[in-house]
Amino acid sequence: CGIVGYIGKREATPILIDGLSRLEYRGYDSAGIAVFNDGEICVEKYKGRLSVLEEHVKEKNLNGTIGIGHTRWATHGEPSDINAHPHTNCAGDIAVIHNGIIENYLKLKEWLIVEKGVHFKSETDTEVIAHLIDYFYEGDLLDAVYKAIDKMEGAYAIGVICKEEPDKIVAVRKDSPLIVGLGDGENFIASDIPALLKYTRDMYLIENDEVVLLTKDEVKIFNEFGQEQKREVFHVDWDVEAAEKEGYEHFMIKEIYEQPGGIDKTLNRRLNKEGTIVLDGIKLTKEDLDKINKIYIVACGTAYHAGLVGKVAIEKYAKIPVICDVASEFRYRDPFIDENTLFIAISQSGETLDTLAALREAKRKGARILSVVNVVGSSVARESDDVFYTWAGPEIAVASTKAYTTQLTAMYMIALHMGLTKGTLSRERYDEIVAELKTMPDKAQKILDNYQIIQQLADEQFNNESVFFMGRGLDVEVAFEGSLKLKEISYINSFAIAAGELKHGTIALIEDGTLVIALATQNHLYDKMLSNIKEVKARGAYVVAVAKEGNEEVEKTADKVIYIPDTMDELTPILSVIPLQLFAYYVSVARGNDVDKPRNLAKSVTVE
Ligand code: G6P
Repeated sequence: CGIVGYIGKREATPILIDGLSRLEYRGYDSAGIAVFNDGEICVEKYKGRLSVLEEHVKEKNLNGTIGIGHTRWATHGEPSDINAHPHTNCAGDIAVIHNGIIENYLKLKEWLIVEKGVHFKSETDTEVIAHLIDYFYEGDLLDAVYKAIDKMEGAYAIGVICKEEPDKIVAVRKDSPLIVGLGDGENFIASDIPALLKYTRDMYLIENDEVVLLTKDEVKIFNEFGQEQKREVFHVDWDVEAAEKEGYEHFMIKEIYEQPGGIDKTLNRRLNKEGTIVLDGIKLTKEDLDKINKIYIVACGTAYHAGLVGKVAIEKYAKIPVICDVASEFRYRDPFIDENTLFIAISQSGETLDTLAALREAKRKGARILSVVNVVGSSVARESDDVFYTWAGPEIAVASTKAYTTQLTAMYMIALHMGLTKGTLSRERYDEIVAELKTMPDKAQKILDNYQIIQQLADEQFNNESVFFMGRGLDVEVAFEGSLKLKEISYINSFAIAAGELKHGTIALIEDGTLVIALATQNHLYDKMLSNIKEVKARGAYVVAVAKEGNEEVEKTADKVIYIPDTMDELTPILSVIPLQLFAYYVSVARGNDVDKPRNLAKSVTVE
C-alpha cells in the first residue's frame, strides 16, 4: 500500500491524488482520501484504480487544505469500497491511513467490541486503529496516537487526522516506510520519495518507532518515548523525469531499454584507471573476508533470482560457500548464523518487509550485513553494514527488469572484488572477466536492436495455456526469471526447471505443441542441453532455443533459435534474460493486459 498526506495552504485533493498516482506501484486495488472540508472530515474511497477515485472526487467540492490519501494492496478483507482506506471511528471525526499489518488486530477488535460496543464497518485491521485512537482520545491527538500504538503489534506506517485538531497530521513509522517532505508553509508525508518530488526535494527520513507531528509550518519528530529527535534534511538530487514514460508505451519496455545504460553506470563508474573495481560502500577487508566461512544471500522474487546467480559467482571467485534463500522462508528456518557469517540482502526497493525481517534476524544473530539495493536511503540500505547501490534509476513497472540486470552486475562485481581481495582469483583472470563485463552494455543493446524477432515470436505464441522454461547450469537461474516475468504479466501458467530434472516427472506434462523455451548458452553443457531438447521434441514440444552466436548446432534440433552475442559462460545471464523479458512484454501486450500493473501484484510489498 502507499500513503500520502498534505498540510498547507493549497487545496489538498489534487496533491493527494497526484502523490497517490506515483505510489500506485505499491498497490492499486482501491484508493481513497480524507480531506478537511468546512470543518468536517470528508472521506472518499472506492474500489478500483485511482482513476475511479479521481472521477468521483471531481464532482465533489473538496477544497480543504489538509488531507491524507491511500492506495491499497489488499491484505485483510477483499478489495471493496468499504475496505478501502481511509478508515474512521464511529463518529467519523478521526481518519486513518495505514500501510502494513496489525498482527493483533483481532484481539484489539474483540476488546473494542466488548469494552466500547464499537460497531465495525470493514474487515480491515486498519479500522481498529481509528477506533483505538478514538478510545484513547482526550483532547490531544498526539497523546492518543502514542497510547494506541502502545497496544498495536505488527508493521505499519500510519497517517492520522482528527476533526477536533484540524491543524495537524500525526504519522507513525514502524517497519513500514515513511518519509516527510518539507515545504514553505506546507509539509507532506508519503511512503516514498517520488510521490513528493514534484513539490519538494527536502525530506526527513523517518526511523522506526518514530512519531511525527506535522503542522503547515513545522515538523516535529519524536522517538518511542516521546522525546523530540533532531534530523538532518535529506536532499534528493535525482529527477522526477526519470520516473516518467518518455514516449514509451509502458514503463516496462522503457526500463528494458534502459538496461545497457544501467549496467554501464553500475560497472564503469566503479572502475579506476587500472581497471580495478572500487566499492566505496563495502568496507570488507582481506582479514574480514578470510574469517567469513559462510554467506547467505536472501531476497524475494526477481531479486532472489539475481541471488541465485550471485551464489554461483561468489563460490567460483571467492571460494566461500553460499546458501541462497527466499526471505519469507529464511527467517523461520532457524538459520545457523554466527559472527563469521556474511548476510547479503538484495532488494530493488530496499523496503520489502520479508527481506528486511530476514536481515534483522541475521543481524540479531551476529552476521555482518551487506546489501545490494537500488533505492538510496531505503530501510534495507540504512540497516546494513555495507551497501552496493545498483544505480538503475527508479523502476516503476511491477515486473522488474533493469533492477535484475544491474543486480546481476553488482553480484559479479562483489564476487570479483572478494576473489581478488582474498587471493582466490588471479589478477589475470580478474582482468579478463572485468574486460568482458565492460562489453555487456553493447551486447545487451544488440539484443534490444533485434527486438522484432521476439515480438514476432510473441505474436505467434501469445495464446499458449502453459509454457516451460528449461536450462542447465546458470541457464536454470535465468529460466526461473524468464518464467516469473511471463507469469507475472501474461497470466500464462509457466514453469521453469533444470533440464536434467525434467525426465524425473515434469516431462509428463509435455504434449503436442507445448511451448518449451530452452536456454542453451553454457558451452560445457551444450551437448547435454541438445539431448534434453530432443527429449521434449520427441514428446511433441515446440522448442524455442536461446543460444550464443557461433553455436548453430542447436538449429538442427530446435524449431526456432534466438541468438545472443557470444560471451563467457559465467556472464551469460545478463544477456540471456533480455529476450525472455521482451518475450513476456510482447505476450502481455498481445493479450491486452495491463503490462505495468498486472493483477494481484504490487511492486513493493511491505507486508509479510
Ligand atoms: C515484489 C515485486 C517483485 C520483486 C519483489 C522483491 O513481489 O512484485 O517484482 O522482485 O517484490 O522486491 P525488492 O524491492 O525487494 O527487490
